[in-house]
Amino acid sequence: MAKLKSKWVCQNCGYESFSYLGKCPECSKFSTFVEEIIQDKTEIKSKNSSMNIIKSENSGYTKIRDVKIDKTVRISSKMEEFDRVLGGGFVEGSLILLAGDPGIGKSTLILQAAKNLSEQNKKVLYVCAEESTSQVKIRAERLNANSDNIYLTQQNCLEEIIKQTEELKPDFLVVDSIQSVFSANILSSTGSISQIRECTNIVMRIAKQHNITTIVIGHVTKEGNIAGPKVLEHMVDAVLNFEGERYKTTRILRGIKNRFGAISEVGIFNMEDGGLVEIKNPSELFLSDREINTTSGSTVIPTIEGKRCLLLEIQALTGATPYPNPRRVARGVEYDRLLQILAVLEKRVGLNLSKQDVYINVIGGIEIEEPAADLGIAIAVLTSSRDITTNKETVCMGEIGLSGEIRSVDNLEIRLKEARKMGFKKAVIPYISNQTIKERLDKIGIKLFEVKKIVDAINFIVN
Ligand code: TYD
Ligand code: MG
Repeated sequence: MAKLKSKWVCQNCGYESFSYLGKCPECSKFSTFVEEIIQDKTEIKSKNSSMNIIKSENSGYTKIRDVKIDKTVRISSKMEEFDRVLGGGFVEGSLILLAGDPGIGKSTLILQAAKNLSEQNKKVLYVCAEESTSQVKIRAERLNANSDNIYLTQQNCLEEIIKQTEELKPDFLVVDSIQSVFSANILSSTGSISQIRECTNIVMRIAKQHNITTIVIGHVTKEGNIAGPKVLEHMVDAVLNFEGERYKTTRILRGIKNRFGAISEVGIFNMEDGGLVEIKNPSELFLSDREINTTSGSTVIPTIEGKRCLLLEIQALTGATPYPNPRRVARGVEYDRLLQILAVLEKRVGLNLSKQDVYINVIGGIEIEEPAADLGIAIAVLTSSRDITTNKETVCMGEIGLSGEIRSVDNLEIRLKEARKMGFKKAVIPYISNQTIKERLDKIGIKLFEVKKIVDAINFIVN
């Protein structure tokens, strides 16, 4: 039988096949298979062992009560927004994947953090696998990050990077970006899933072995995934996404996975001439362009991101459609969620949208995932279609059930406090049956209107 020399690997999930497949049976993506050379396993093993990077210190088992907890040492990035997403700073020896679209500001963020770390006497080795050292130096001058403790190396070869890391013994290692690094032991091309997986794996072992905090920068594919997302997410301790709209300067750092902190925390920045500036009061920024005399189809909702509350404006526009099938466009809101809310409005409120286009936009480029935003979306659509002006001093929140009932939301107190802080006077909230909770919320200093149905809510939000 002929010896197989190559395999086809799905570049999205890592599924392997001996022949080309148009659709991946594992992740159902199309045209993701790339041919890679099969290597002799013994060859890779011998090369790896010669690099002396696999070391198992622990052998045998221990009673759970006898296991000693390693003290986690945290190092602050001196950026409150960054630290928040990390769960209180970098955990020493952890491996962090920072992902985002090209040009969003990943290198800028890390160089700024490197500057702050170097000021705390931490040695940082910055691997410029994508840009030249002089390009990074130009950025560093812009950010005022010309520190004695930051070392640059223009290197793509992983084995060379490891050699330099072992020689310099830095506290922090930055690999910018993992897609541009290759291991000489792997035959497939740079940026392929086998290369990314292997390189991350080796970097991880080096990080753990020498207790070096490592930040790996990764690009996002056209579909919005980190290249080789599943394989990388399992390996690293934290995955942070850096997001933002192309023509806006607001940047959002989001924790997708974090072994040392809460996920779904966000850090908000503004990209300016001198680098990223932290936004300490994001609600103010997101509401700053709001019309003073609010028009129809605009509501403000308090939404929870991690541990904090952001006030966001939701806008809706409805109008007669020139198409046979009306259009539904949702920006910042899940499409299916919008369809469900529209269905409830049609059935329970009697709003006929079958000949109307509906556009929804969340200001600030934030994606709202929580159902507590349902009521805000519904009221925005309702007031736009009936051309009713909403009250500019009212916020609303509540999940909408299929029978048009308003269901409870969590963290009500945090939401109401943030609304009051931002100068809102009234809030439309789900009905509260518990009297003690009601009394506590009443003390916040914002007038509450409890509602059980969408139709009740509309009376309180109109001007
Ligand atoms: P960069 O960090 O190179 O992005 P990435 O590493 O994610 O590809 O940032 C690139 C953009 O940021 C570029 O369009 C210029 C802009 N920028 C500023 O606006 N101000 C700054 O101080 C810096 C360094 C960059
Ligand atoms: Mg970059």
